[in-house]
Amino acid sequence: MDTVYLNGEYIPADQATVSVFDRGFLFSDSVYEVIPFYQGVGFRLEEHLQRLEHSLRALRIELELDWIITLSRLVELNGGGNLSVYLQVTRGSAGKRVHAIDQGLVPTVFACCQPIRDIYQEGADKVEGIKVIVTADLRWHRCDIKSTCLLPNILVLQQARELGAQEAILQRDGALTEGASCNFFIVEQGVLYTPPIGTEILSGTTRALILELADQYGIPRQETEIDYQRLIGADEVWISSSTRAIVPVMQVDDYVVGNGLKGPLWQRMFEIFTRYQHQLMTGE
Ligand code: PDD
Repeated sequence: MDTVYLNGEYIPADQATVSVFDRGFLFSDSVYEVIPFYQGVGFRLEEHLQRLEHSLRALRIELELDWIITLSRLVELNGGGNLSVYLQVTRGSAGKRVHAIDQGLVPTVFACCQPIRDIYQEGADKVEGIKVIVTADLRWHRCDIKSTCLLPNILVLQQARELGAQEAILQRDGALTEGASCNFFIVEQGVLYTPPIGTEILSGTTRALILELADQYGIPRQETEIDYQRLIGADEVWISSSTRAIVPVMQVDDYVVGNGLKGPLWQRMFEIFTRYQHQLMTGE
């Protein structure tokens, strides 16, 4: 994955440099997206780009770029196949460290690729259930912006790792918001529940697709506040993200979820997703 995109150029990663005064570096004054490409085709690309627009607008960063052409070229230069594309837009550099935003800064635009597994094609049997912990949500109140300021997320993920877990679900004022790098769902008596979108969570593209497909396939679902008791008492718990797809949670803190196996609704949704992805890739 040697070729990266930086400010209009496709160059080897080891030749890509950014100013030390870049506001992304100094202040996390920047936003990002992570977009999966399977067989060279972007998965929910439009939805990712819409969310990017939302983030850029929230930061009042103005940028004119044909993302579809730019990212397709990057994927092609990196050999196509199954890749996750990371892109980041910072407000740019003022050539000095100053909090206030100077007028006329030119945004820094960076994108690179990493190989990913195509878990849908590998199949549900290959998906490993995970353990999560629940911990305090220490983030700011604009989690709808996909900001690169990920320190609280990184610290809680580390905390999870040290406890033998793979993800942390965050809790604010008694309500669970989302995971450190994912959204989450619970299943109670065949009904799918997830917290509503707003400024406390990132509006996940995978989350939105799960809800869309649930509606299409007649799976009852509801966006509602979820607390700790409901989480640990649920029949099934899932997490969702672009890079991990939909993953069943087998354990929350010290509590085993449901009967300790991957749940039937998860199996069904995974199959529906696999079919959806296949149609997207082949047009069939
Ligand atoms: N993270 N919530 C948070 C805090 C996230 O960081 C992510 C994704 C999601 C899920 O969004 P989506 O389904 O659109 O990927 C929810 C990406 C994968 C990351 O930071 O690498």
